[in-house]
Amino acid sequence: MRIDIITVLPELLKSPFEASILKRAIEANLVEIHFHNLRDYASDKYKSIDDTQFGGGAGMVMMVEPIDKCISELKSKRDYDEVIYMTPDGATLNQGIANQISLKQNIIILCGHYKGVDQRVREHLITKEISIGDFVLSGGELAAAVLCDSVIRLIPGVLGNETSALTDSFQDNLLAPPIYTKPRDYNGWKVPELLFSGNLPEIERWREEQAYQRTKTLRPDLLED
Ligand code: ADE
Repeated sequence: MRIDIITVLPELLKSPFEASILKRAIEANLVEIHFHNLRDYASDKYKSIDDTQFGGGAGMVMMVEPIDKCISELKSKRDYDEVIYMTPDGATLNQGIANQISLKQNIIILCGHYKGVDQRVREHLITKEISIGDFVLSGGELAAAVLCDSVIRLIPGVLGNETSALTDSFQDNLLAPPIYTKPRDYNGWKVPELLFSGNLPEIERWREEQAYQRTKTLRPDLLED
C-alpha cells in the first residue's frame, strides 16, 4: 500500500511513522508513506495556500489551485483508489472504514487547515471525507495519523501475530474481553480460574460472553446494528 499525505505541516506528521509498528511496516516495505508540502505547489512568491472567504466571514480558506496541482501531479504518476479529506464533518472513522481502506493499493490523504478547503476541492477532487470524532482539531494532520495507524496495522504481515487484529475490539462489533498475564495472583488480585483450566472451548465461550456483556454495558449502541 502507498499513502501520499498532502499537508502544510509535514513536521507535525512525521513522528508517528518513525516509531513502533508503523516504522516496522515501512521498513518491511508493507507500506510506503510520502509527504507532500502543499506550499511547494503555491503559485505566488509568498507560497500562499489560503485566502479570505468570498461573501465575507472569519477564517481563511485553502485554495483550489495548489491542492489541484499537487493531486494532479500524483495522479499523473499512478492511479489512486481514494482521495481522502480529513475533516470534522466527514463520516466518523470506525473499524469498518479502516478495514475497507486497508484493502486499497494507493491513497491520497489531504489534511485540512484553517476553516477548511474551497468547496470545489470537495466536489471535484475528493472521493471520501473522514472525521475522527465530533470535535475540532487545529488541522487534519493528527487525524490523518490516527487514520493511517488504524489502517496500516490491518495490512497482512504488519502485526506479528497474524490473527491479533482479528481479535481487536470492534472487529466483530464487540468490545474485546478482559485479558490477563503473570502473575496469577497479585497481592490478592486474582486472575479468573477458568483461564488455567486448559479447556479451550470453555475459555473461548467465556471470552465471547465477557465481550458481549462488556459491549452491552459500555457500548449498547454497537449491538443495535
Ligand atoms: N480536522 C479537524 N478536526 C478534525 C476531525 N475531528 N477529524 C478529522 N479531521 C479534522
